[in-house]
Amino acid sequence: MSEQLRNLDRWPEQETRGHRIPGSRYTAKEFMNQEWEGMWTKVWLLLGREAELPNPGDWQMEEVGPEEILMVRQKDGSVKAFYNVCQHRGNPLVSESKGTVLRRFVCKYHSWAFTPDGTLNFAPDKEDFPEGNPCGKVRLQELSCETFAGFIFVNMDPHCQSLQSYLGPIWDDWAARDIHTWRRTMANTMWLPCNWKIVLDNFNESYHVPTVHQGATPDTDRKAIRGHIDTYFKETQFDLSDEGHNRMVMKGGFSVGSTDAEGNILEPLASQLRYWEIDPEAFKGRPEATREALQQAKRRLGPERGYTHYDRIPDEQFTDAFHYTLFPNFAVSVWSDGFHFLRARPHRSYS
Ligand code: FES
Repeated sequence: MSEQLRNLDRWPEQETRGHRIPGSRYTAKEFMNQEWEGMWTKVWLLLGREAELPNPGDWQMEEVGPEEILMVRQKDGSVKAFYNVCQHRGNPLVSESKGTVLRRFVCKYHSWAFTPDGTLNFAPDKEDFPEGNPCGKVRLQELSCETFAGFIFVNMDPHCQSLQSYLGPIWDDWAARDIHTWRRTMANTMWLPCNWKIVLDNFNESYHVPTVHQGATPDTDRKAIRGHIDTYFKETQFDLSDEGHNRMVMKGGFSVGSTDAEGNILEPLASQLRYWEIDPEAFKGRPEATREALQQAKRRLGPERGYTHYDRIPDEQFTDAFHYTLFPNFAVSVWSDGFHFLRARPHRSYS
């Protein structure tokens, strides 16, 4: 069992700076330009999931602001990232979001062809170029690319620090789990008419939860269910790493609404308890006690039900939500049985 996960005080204490954030950060073109030059092109960006590129030649193209970035699985199992730009006259090399290249990426403008490792190996009339045959010399422009926990990270800065250094304590938190083996079951992309930070701001706090999510359980007195079983912000542990990443640990992990006015356990907690052979009736009026009961039941029954990774997971993660916000744009909630994440990007129309 991971001591790193057990020691929730491991992240450094931070001073709250409390400076006011001007609205222009969300609306001003000048600030957006500064973000692009000083941030987006300097940070590690999560752009893909390794399981989406299982075989050599599999590729995926992702947009970040005005850039298109191509990630390609290599023969040796690594992943390389390139700008989606033909090095002849700058035509986009691919126009779809994903695919498999058997031998070469062939540009649709003049048929220059690049192998999956980015090397030009065919150009029509190659002997006519005054600088000499470009094949074997010209390469796609490559970006720094590293994988961790099954995610593909890319950095546009050729002088960037390592991904491990960038992630700081998140590296240790996630390395203790089997996240790299998890598969994506659902994906959805939305275009919203707002600045990208609006979305991240929302996922960076749980202050709104008792208000916004109260509607799902209108019978509930939220003050009666605060005891380690909801996402009420006063029960949440907030951490900020020196690297600028955030961690929120929400005990219970269930939203407000675990009991009705009489103290009966409500859904979805009731179904969770039954699935793990716990009678919700036995916890009437004391929902906070279900947290430890669930942890013990999962520990006891998990392995025989096929949850073979449970022996590497701390008790807290059987019930609690570990929510991370990786600077600048990636928010993820991790439980013992899966995760869901959200990624915000600047609009493509930005230029
Ligand atoms: S621009 Fe790609 S081959 Fe000419």
